[in-house]
Amino acid sequence: MTTPPTTSSVLVEENKSLSQSSLWRMQREYFEQESINAWVNQVPFYITSNPFIAYCYSQLVINFIRDWTKKHPETKHLPFYILELGTGSGRLSFYVLKTLTELLEAYKMTDIKICYVMSDFTRNNIKYYETHPALLPYLEKGMVDFAIYNMELDKPITLLRQHITLNPETLQNPLIVFANYIFDTISHDGFTVHDKKLYELLISLKTEMSNLKDNRPVDMEKLETVYHIKEIKSDYYSDPVLNDILEEYKTHLHESSLLFPIGSIHAIKYLNKISNNKLFIISTDKGYGTLNSLDYHGHPSLSFHGSFSLMVNFHAISEFFKKTGGGSFMQSTRKGIKTSVFYNGIQLNELTDTQYALQQYVEEFSPSDYFTLHRRVSDSFQECDLDTIAAHMHLTRWDPHMYLKLKNRVISLISEADPETVEFMATYMPKLASNFYHLPKTECVLFEVGVFFHATKNYQEALRYYEQSLPFVGEQFSLRYNIALCQHHLGRNEDALASFKKALELNPDSKETKEWVTFLEKGKNGGEEK
Ligand SMILES: C[S@@+](CC[C@H](N)C(=O)[O-])C[C@H]1O[C@@H](n2cnc3c(N)ncnc32)[C@H](O)[C@@H]1O
Repeated sequence: MTTPPTTSSVLVEENKSLSQSSLWRMQREYFEQESINAWVNQVPFYITSNPFIAYCYSQLVINFIRDWTKKHPETKHLPFYILELGTGSGRLSFYVLKTLTELLEAYKMTDIKICYVMSDFTRNNIKYYETHPALLPYLEKGMVDFAIYNMELDKPITLLRQHITLNPETLQNPLIVFANYIFDTISHDGFTVHDKKLYELLISLKTEMSNLKDNRPVDMEKLETVYHIKEIKSDYYSDPVLNDILEEYKTHLHESSLLFPIGSIHAIKYLNKISNNKLFIISTDKGYGTLNSLDYHGHPSLSFHGSFSLMVNFHAISEFFKKTGGGSFMQSTRKGIKTSVFYNGIQLNELTDTQYALQQYVEEFSPSDYFTLHRRVSDSFQECDLDTIAAHMHLTRWDPHMYLKLKNRVISLISEADPETVEFMATYMPKLASNFYHLPKTECVLFEVGVFFHATKNYQEALRYYEQSLPFVGEQFSLRYNIALCQHHLGRNEDALASFKKALELNPDSKETKEWVTFLEKGKNGGEEK
């Protein structure tokens, strides 16, 4: 939400084109400073970074590669690069790497070389990925690399491990690009259509004196935005294609203010250039996909959530592709986020598997539909029985984020639940554990998988997962105590005694632990078994 100006505010900048505003610099400063902590309860990222969306994207990629290599068998031995823009937490990358590996095996395509490039403008994020334990196996296989890429600039994209620069020589196959929650984050221009005339939206920023340090605003959320309009009488952009799109808006819209994703189009032009005009972009973001949906809006407002975002004009991006020889696949209208696919240098009607995958994973049951259901179950899981929870976990593809919400309900239902449902869940607990991607200040699902097996009296498995969680949760009373209980149930009383003693060091007031230590010490000296 933007706030109206107050009399005590100071002018930070006046009547700037939106894309030239200092807002974008402040946005980058925010991500640079926060780095991975931006995803600790600040910037939303669940919708674009879960195992379900990763499965949809992986299916699109695999089917596209299958079609492409069928049609161009000579390119089969050349790598396919997937470039993720504004990667953020890295959680989508991990789930895609994992799913692609499974699909390459399932489709007997293990001879295909994929290089997944996690890019971001800030090195601070890349430092987090470089040592992430979940990414390590893919690094060792040479399946993942990293690159610093600021989409507002045309600087070479060089892989930090392989020292390869993405350019027309290295990119023989089409460049596959993932762009989630990034087109809404980088620069936009703003326009207003009124009485068949086109106006530029000029932005002024104001803030309270107390929000200034060295003449620069400290907290973006305390900025007040004011718009003025200025009529455009000649070509606005130097690129006639972009002017054509603006002309379409001037002619067809009745009365509206709209955003134009100029930063994103700038990046797309650069990516086209380095890929010999062979691009396949998949993007999920909040935005407008049709001309009609752009009509009758007021001036744009910034949404703040740590960083800020604006609605993406997917229609303009689609028009840009169509007018430059490419095309798009836009899912039918949904409330909230949408998935769109843009391509160049590709005849989609010749790629039958890709077309089917687009229908199946973008149009039919899409990441957006998944999120709607996920939200409903998140809000009402206390009313759900274990059968419903298990089915929903299956739909999420065993997503740790969801399980962490449901875990207490699951444990409370186990003793009364149908044994077949409990067995079903137990079968998929290893999959849930394998989806663990560590982020700061986030609970560790490995521990919770241990708790599940503990509750089902499978002490061997419980112990295994408790031990795996140790490097992530650190020495903690509850972990040591649970380990000790499992060791005792497995008849390993000496280990159990040592573990209870460690637990007691961590919580010297625990009466139960003291009793266990006394009891096991007695047993060791020939006392009776519990
Ligand atoms: C809103 S987050 C989205 C992260 C991730 N794609 C997701 O869906 O959760 C935006 C990401 O883009 C990066 N970013 C911001 N400005 C950028 C720019 N000009 N070029 C490249 N990345 C940028 C930020 O560092 C951050 O990682």
